[in-house]
Amino acid sequence: MVDLTDFIQQVKRANDIVDVIGSYLELRHNGSANFVARCPFHGEKTASFNVNRAMQIYKCFGCGESGDVIKFVEKYESLTFMEALERMAKRANLKMPETLLQKQDKDYAARKQKQDVYFAICRDAAVFYYKAYYSEKGAVAREYVESRGFTPDTVKKFGIGYSPDKYSLVKFLQDKKYETEDCLKCGVLQRSHNGDVFDALSYRLIIPIFNMQGKVIAFGGRGLTEEVTNYGKYKNTAETPLFLKKNNLFAINVAKEQKQQSALPNIVVVEGYMDVIAMYQAGFKRAVASMGTSLTESQAKWLSRLTSTVYICYDGDAAGQKATVRGLDILDKAGLEVKVMSVPENLDPDEYIKKYGAEAFEKLIENALPLPDYKLALLEKTFSINSPDAAKRNDALSKYVKGALIMLRQLDDVRQSQYIAAVSLKTGFSQEYFRRKLTEDVKTETPVAETAQQISSETQAKYFVACCVLRGEDYASVEEKPRCDTVFLSDLYDYLLKCREENVSPSVDMLYTICPDATEQEYSQIIDVDLSKSRREKNKQYFKECKLLLKKEELKGKKERLLEEIKQNPDDVSLLEQLAKLSSELN
Ligand code: UTP
Ligand code: MN
Repeated sequence: MVDLTDFIQQVKRANDIVDVIGSYLELRHNGSANFVARCPFHGEKTASFNVNRAMQIYKCFGCGESGDVIKFVEKYESLTFMEALERMAKRANLKMPETLLQKQDKDYAARKQKQDVYFAICRDAAVFYYKAYYSEKGAVAREYVESRGFTPDTVKKFGIGYSPDKYSLVKFLQDKKYETEDCLKCGVLQRSHNGDVFDALSYRLIIPIFNMQGKVIAFGGRGLTEEVTNYGKYKNTAETPLFLKKNNLFAINVAKEQKQQSALPNIVVVEGYMDVIAMYQAGFKRAVASMGTSLTESQAKWLSRLTSTVYICYDGDAAGQKATVRGLDILDKAGLEVKVMSVPENLDPDEYIKKYGAEAFEKLIENALPLPDYKLALLEKTFSINSPDAAKRNDALSKYVKGALIMLRQLDDVRQSQYIAAVSLKTGFSQEYFRRKLTEDVKTETPVAETAQQISSETQAKYFVACCVLRGEDYASVEEKPRCDTVFLSDLYDYLLKCREENVSPSVDMLYTICPDATEQEYSQIIDVDLSKSRREKNKQYFKECKLLLKKEELKGKKERLLEEIKQNPDDVSLLEQLAKLSSELN
């Protein structure tokens, strides 16, 4: 059984961080072990992104992001941790141990093989549709696309195609020696009751849907004639092993591509394929479409890997719906800043841009409402709190307040007091009233958020000791684990003691393996400490003081426990003797 941590370490040893990051970014040599570049994770003009060969870590002093080689690939390529690990293993010709793959999924290998077949079928079908678009039969599609104002470049970018009839694709895939069952499984072909197998999107304009890695996983098909749209204006590939509508966003691959060029300040989520395509053509290259369903947690996760702010741009009638608001809360919970746009005249983005131009659309983005304001606006639209009829007005007010309280409860303290003021102004209810309501109704204590409180000198000492040992200072060693208040310190000391036990040197980049969920402030306590030669004597001295402080803390703890015991057994002489010894040691 291979230990995951060991394997990760092996992979990291085989992938020098400077080589790997150097294949993505232009690194400039800057000092013995240091390389710098412009940070790929936030927009910047100067190079604050540092890669350190000795420590095998990177750190941006602009945005604070730090990590090891795997975290870099994970973030840069928007992969999961396991995917990034697998990619780095491959790069170094290391085989992912069977046991690790099995940990992910029992029949991972078999499933993966099947998946590759489905990917190939989808890719080949996309090529088929694309060629058909330019064929004689594709004239209808080309005319339609032209009438909507899309350019050949746009068609190429999105790989737009056309399905010319029911059976050409069937034959094409058969000639490629694919099993019909596989073609049905990935939704490209469909079988009717009488066993007839045909192109699932026959006679439609084809819009391929790509996953984050840029592979085709499904298609959207738009009917071009009434005969076809009678069966639905759009028809998607059915849900398949590659494609679950609720797990995917149309054009997420385009957004990712943009992010690789420069950090994405935001992403705009719209409803339709055509909206995304029209926006792209108008220069808004960071739009994705939810394909007519409400947003889910997995979509929120994808989005939060790419950006920190999401603009929602939905049609008038969809925007107010409960399901939509639920979707927005999901984005908010995933840590995304959510803003809601409204497009006048019930137009969709495509129509709006055609009618008023890209600049006007830019204005709509600027005027988007933060989520809490949007919820208040929605409440105000629903309940007539300004009704001249007193009874109606009071009823509306109490409903509005109820709704506002739900909204307020979801906010952090700072924003909450901000919005309490606004809501109080709007309703005439006092701020005090809202504050009381908010505390009184919450039964369970909300956990106290970790604040940037001052670090005690003991904790400071624990960080410094760990830092010196981890970074291999020759005067530094650690023999026991101090009392640790945080998971980070506790895991870190466990690692250092394990290394001591096994007689191996610890390595800094393992921080990100051992403590993957630590905060940048915590990492910073280890990696940003100046251990340069010129400071060596000072650091050595400080290290001694820190060890002493920790020893003292340990003895104090022992003394307290002893005193407790003495209270219980006041006649036990041996306890008193121990106490005397401890006290003298402490002094
Ligand atoms: P819209 O009807 O707003 O699409 O539906 P659109 O993109 O503006 O289409 P055009 O401009 O008329 O060509 C929004 C989305 O809902 C899904 C599609 O994903 C569509 O892009 N939808 C819509 C369907 O799946 N089936 C339908 O019949 C209609
Ligand atoms: Mn439209």
